[in-house]
Amino acid sequence: MASEPKNGSEPVRRVTVPTLRAMKMRGERIAMITAYDATFAQMLDEAGADMLLVGDSLGMVVQGQDSTLPVTIDEMIYHCRAVARGAKRAFIVGDMPFMSFQLSAEQALRNAGRFLSEGGAHGVKLEGGVDAADTIRRIVSVGIPVVGHVGLLPQSVHAMGGFRVQGKTLEDAQRVLADAHAVADAGAFALVVEGIPPDLAARIQAELEIPTIGIGAGAACDGQVLVCYDLLGLTPNLRPKFVKRYAEFYAQGRDAARNYCDAVRAGTFPTEEHAFGNVERREEPTCTTTSAPSGYGPTH
Ligand code: KIV
Repeated sequence: MASEPKNGSEPVRRVTVPTLRAMKMRGERIAMITAYDATFAQMLDEAGADMLLVGDSLGMVVQGQDSTLPVTIDEMIYHCRAVARGAKRAFIVGDMPFMSFQLSAEQALRNAGRFLSEGGAHGVKLEGGVDAADTIRRIVSVGIPVVGHVGLLPQSVHAMGGFRVQGKTLEDAQRVLADAHAVADAGAFALVVEGIPPDLAARIQAELEIPTIGIGAGAACDGQVLVCYDLLGLTPNLRPKFVKRYAEFYAQGRDAARNYCDAVRAGTFPTEEHAFGNVERREEPTCTTTSAPSGYGPTH
């Protein structure tokens, strides 16, 4: 298990696949949050998130698209690398975007590998059930941990006729249950269950040995995942029923930026406190040595 010194003293123990497995056995809930950059990753990691998902939801909340479909594997790797730099404890999962794993098991394996070798992730997630089982088996066979994802599949938004709750009829519930079993049997070490009725999620949780992580699936799962922009209140135009906002960052950020704009216009920022102070200038020496600048601006 990797450990790194925190503030030069306390070691931070990285969450691993065995840690997550043991959490399910002990009945300890798993907290998973999406992250897309280093600063948010650091903040959510310090908050105690067990897993950080570099979700393709970044297509919607970061890129402003109306679905996750346009997100590319290169964009995902870029964000994953940033998240990996920010997080010291959480298990980092890279989300395989649309068309990065459906063409063949070989394509899936190559792209899953990129998440670990280039993106610094510890595992990957991919959407699909029975149809994705062989792909999962192939990725797991080389030692890459896989998180499955069944129920509402955002990459199948057009086939589902929108972002709709799945498994409402008996027949559809049986399909979702079969998907969950197929993913677990293929070797996934955890399973995201999205947008299904709570009783179906409870049945999946009880029948599978691997941890289930719910989103819009009720309280019976072994863990929960939310998009960080949703839980922090950064999505002013979206209020899905399954989201609880734990902060109002958008409103706070807008008000803070407005105060800054007002202060600039009024000439009340910067004050002396934010200036470096005048210096007595002498003639420049003729011979200078250059040194590399640190950070992105002077500090004194
Ligand atoms: O992309 C994502 O953020 C996800 C979660 C909603 C599970 O897949």
